[in-house]
Parts: sequence; C-alpha cells; structure tokens
Amino acid sequence: MRVLLVIFPLLIYLSTCHGYRILGLFPFQGKSHFVMFEHLMKGLAKKGHQIDVVSKFPLKKPYPNYTDIVTLPTTLRLVNNMSFELMQQLLSSNPTYAVATVGGNELCEFLGNPEIKELAKPKNPPYDAVLIEVFGAQCFGVIAHMLKVPLIGISTTALYPWLFDMIAQPESLAITPSNLLSLTESMNFWQRLQNIVFTTYDKWYFNYLTTREQDRMIREHFGPDMPSVRELEKKVSLVLINSHITLNGIQPKTAAAVDVGGIHVQDEDETLQPELEKWMNDSKDGFIYFTFGSMMMIETFPRKFLTVLYASLGKIAPVRVIMKIPKPEKLPAALPENIYISPWMPQIKVLKHPNIKAFITHGGLMGTQESIACGVPMIGIPLFADQFTNIDRYVARNIALRLDIDTITEESFDAALNAILRDPLYRETARKLSQRFLDRPLNAIDTANYWIEYIIRYGEDSLRSPAMDLTWWQISLIDVIGFLLFCTAIVVAIVVFTVRFVKEMLNENHKSLSYSKKIN
Ligand SMILES: *[C@@H]1O[C@H](CO)[C@@H](O)[C@H](O)[C@H]1NC(C)=O
Ligand SMILES: *[C@@H]1O[C@H](CO)[C@@H](O)[C@H](O)[C@H]1NC(C)=O
Ligand SMILES: *[C@@H]1O[C@H](CO)[C@@H](O)[C@H](O)[C@H]1NC(C)=O
Repeated sequence: MRVLLVIFPLLIYLSTCHGYRILGLFPFQGKSHFVMFEHLMKGLAKKGHQIDVVSKFPLKKPYPNYTDIVTLPTTLRLVNNMSFELMQQLLSSNPTYAVATVGGNELCEFLGNPEIKELAKPKNPPYDAVLIEVFGAQCFGVIAHMLKVPLIGISTTALYPWLFDMIAQPESLAITPSNLLSLTESMNFWQRLQNIVFTTYDKWYFNYLTTREQDRMIREHFGPDMPSVRELEKKVSLVLINSHITLNGIQPKTAAAVDVGGIHVQDEDETLQPELEKWMNDSKDGFIYFTFGSMMMIETFPRKFLTVLYASLGKIAPVRVIMKIPKPEKLPAALPENIYISPWMPQIKVLKHPNIKAFITHGGLMGTQESIACGVPMIGIPLFADQFTNIDRYVARNIALRLDIDTITEESFDAALNAILRDPLYRETARKLSQRFLDRPLNAIDTANYWIEYIIRYGEDSLRSPAMDLTWWQISLIDVIGFLLFCTAIVVAIVVFTVRFVKEMLNENHKSLSYSKKIN
C-alpha cells in the first residue's frame, strides 16, 4: 500500500511532466504547406507537448495544448480564390525566385512585427525547441538563436537544392534529381549533367543573388551582432522532410534528415456532410474525385477546357464525378447530371470511400500523397511548380496518367478516363504502392515526435554530421584524389626517368664496348 502511495504520484508526475514547450513559426501563406505543419503540431500537442504557433491560419476549432500565439496578417487570400489568369501571372516566374521572395525575403519583414520580437525574449517556462519551415525564410531561425534553444526545420517537399548544405545532407546528384527538374531517378549522362548544372545554379541564385537581403533584416530588427541567414541555417539540428523512399527513391541520408512523408494524411477533424456521403454511397458504379487543390478555381479556366471536361465527364455515366468548385455560379450552363459540386471537400474521407475509382488532380504533393495513401490511381493535369515532376514520378510508377492543360482534347481525356477506369493495372499498382508507403517501423507522427524529443534531450549537436566542418572539395575527397594523382604522377615520372637512364647507360656501355672491340 505504501509502495503504491509513492508510485502513483510518481507515475502521474512522469506522465504529465515529459511534455516540452515548442514554438512553431510558419509565416508562409501557402495553405497546402500549412496542412503539414498543422498536423505535425497537433500530433505533438496530442503527445502532451505545449504547442505555440505563429501562422496565417489560426485553427477554426480550439485544440487542446495548441495555441495560436500570433496570427499574421494576410495580403493575398489564395485559398479557393486563385483564378486561371492570376495563376499564369504569379507562377510564370522562376520558381527559385518565387521561393526566395514571396516565400522568403517578404516574410522576413515580419521579424519587425512587435509580437514576433516579443517571442525572442526569454520566457517562463522557456521553450525547449523552435520549429521553422525550411523553404525561403530561414531568417526566422534568429528566434531560436535568441532563445538559445535547438532549431528544427520542416520541409513540405523533398529538399530544394539550397537546403542540403545546412545539415550536410549528401546531394547524390548521380541518383537524386533536383526537385525543380522534371527528371526521374534513372538518369543518363546528359540528364546527370543537367542535374548538376541546374542544382549549382539554383544554389548560387538562392544563396548569393536573392536571399542575402535577409541578413540586413535580421540585423535591423535584432541587432548588428546577429548571425547571417547562412549561419542561422547551419544551426538547424534536424530536418523533417515530407518524402519517402517509395515516392522519392533510395538515396543516402544523414542522420539529421528524417523522412516523415505523408504526416498530414489524417482525417480526424474532417466532417463529411451527410448529403455528400449519401451521393458517394449511392454511386454504385463508382465515382471520380476531381479537384485542382485548395487554391484553384476550376470555373475560371478557359471555356475550351471546360467544354472538354463537360463532354468527357458526361460520357462516363453511370460512373459519377465529385468536383470541388468554389463559385458554382461561374460555371457554364449544362453541367452534366453525373457531376456533384461543392466549394469544399473533406478530401481524405472522399479518397477513402470504397466507391472511389480515380482522382483527377493538378499534382500537388499533399493531395497526391493522400491519394497514394488511400491507394487511388490518378489522372494528373499539372499546372505549376513541382506538379510536373510529381506527376511524372507517378506515371513512371504506373499509378497515374498525365494530360497537359494546353493540349488536352476530348479524345485524349476520353482515352485517359477509359484507361484509368477499365485497365486494372493502375488500380492494382496504386493499391500495392499504398501498402508500401504506409509500411513503416514507426508512423510519421511518432517518428517526428521521437526525433524532436531526441534533439531536446541530447542537445542540438546530437545528429550533427562531421561533414559540417569540411568544405565541398574535402567532402568529395577531391584533395585526397588530387594528392594521390600527384603521387602517382611522381612515381610514374621516377620510373620513366630511371628506365630512360638505365637504357642510356646500357647504350653507352654497348657503344664503348663495340668501340673498344673495333680498336682491338
Ligand atoms: C495536453 O498536455 C498534457 C501534458 O502537458 C497531457 O497530459 C494531456 O493529455 C494533453 N491533452 C491532450 C488532449 O492531448
Ligand atoms: C480574391 O482575390 C482577389 C484578387 O484576385 C482579391 O481582390 C479578393 O479580395 C480575394 N477574395 C478574398 C475573399 O480574399
Ligand atoms: C454510407 O455507407 C456507410 C457504410 O455502408 C454507412 O455507415 C453510412 O451510414 C452511409 N451514409 C449515408 C448518409 O447513407
């Protein structure tokens, strides 16, 4: 009894006290990026950590242990509000430039926000770690520097070329294509050449041409003795990456690069409207789910494209279609009867429904990973950014077909719909890939939680690679290879010289021998 009296309070103490205080800084306005942070932060809150979040997306419903500590103002509302013209304007620019400015320098202006400056002052109880998105605005690492706590990065895609060096993750350019290029893992000579040239260019463009302005903002708001943004990047202890071997291929990973691909695939807070559920239940011949993601308004696409959609999708009846349309009143008249429209969808619940046959998508990473997790084959119509590469990868894995927005015709769309609905290959490979994608020793959220706690327990250098202290030519052993070549050259020279010398000596002897013979 006495033992119990001691043990019980101890157990209660242990179960409540292992929670850490974690600050998440996610100023970027991309909703699809925030989906990953939201699920990660909620997952950590559920494990008993106290989570404070700075973002443009405050939670609609309160969540225990999760606080929206600062909500940043939004200038451009893009969720369900991106028209075809705006997409063409915004996204025609170089993607590295877009990340460095809209996703980088412009966000660093928030460092001057009084609420953000307040976060950099010591807290009681103190934070145990700071999480930031590693993308374009690594300037936010200054908060971790000020608080003297570990800095942890989250990447919503496979690493961009300029993010490898911060944790000395090997680039492996022979087998790992840059995620800004439309290449798959098996590359020929010219593709490898293209990979190395563009990767080097993108790194230089990001590191030297566009983001050094962040140094000025860091020092303006936090003092002249602050580290530069490149130095702050080197403080990152761990990067949680939205990638997985089944989708991104096999490559060497340093210990601080941890895959948590599909961490956002959670449907616990989605509500399924009874009307939509009934429509899906009643689709006895199956249905296709069609969306171009959280931002795009399909109704603003060119008339020609919408005419093709109406014609081809109308023809697949009795198979039905569910489409996300933010402003249905803007759609042309005569929507085929087998199409159900709604401004918002509980996407994972729709993808999980037993009657779903296929997913028509723009190829955004988050949505397509959800589709892969649910084993649903896809028709991809990529629009911008990484969507082309994503779809190409899925096509190479036989779980998707690709169509292009500029060249799509009723015939090509009919053919794709027919193949995805009738050829069992796509469904079967999608099902198998789903199994492989989810088959892990520890699920994504537990993996993230484990490594974050590991860094907090053992310190910010506990996963630091010794390669962090070497230059690029030391890492690739160019100095050693150069030295060995030099030694080989010397040995060869000595051998050549000696052989020549001996030969000449022999010749001399021979000559003097024959000379003396003649005299004799
Ligand atoms: C909130 O955190 C506490 C410990 O910090 C934990 O005991 C509790 O279970 C958490 N709440 C929820 C709903 O996860
Ligand atoms: C939608 O975007 C337009 C600009 O394209 C903007 O003027 C409008 O305010 C936005 N709507 C909302 C609800 O934010
Ligand atoms: C749809 O089908 C599921 C499974 O058969 C059932 O649990 C659910 O109640 C049905 N919903 C509606 C609205 O019919």
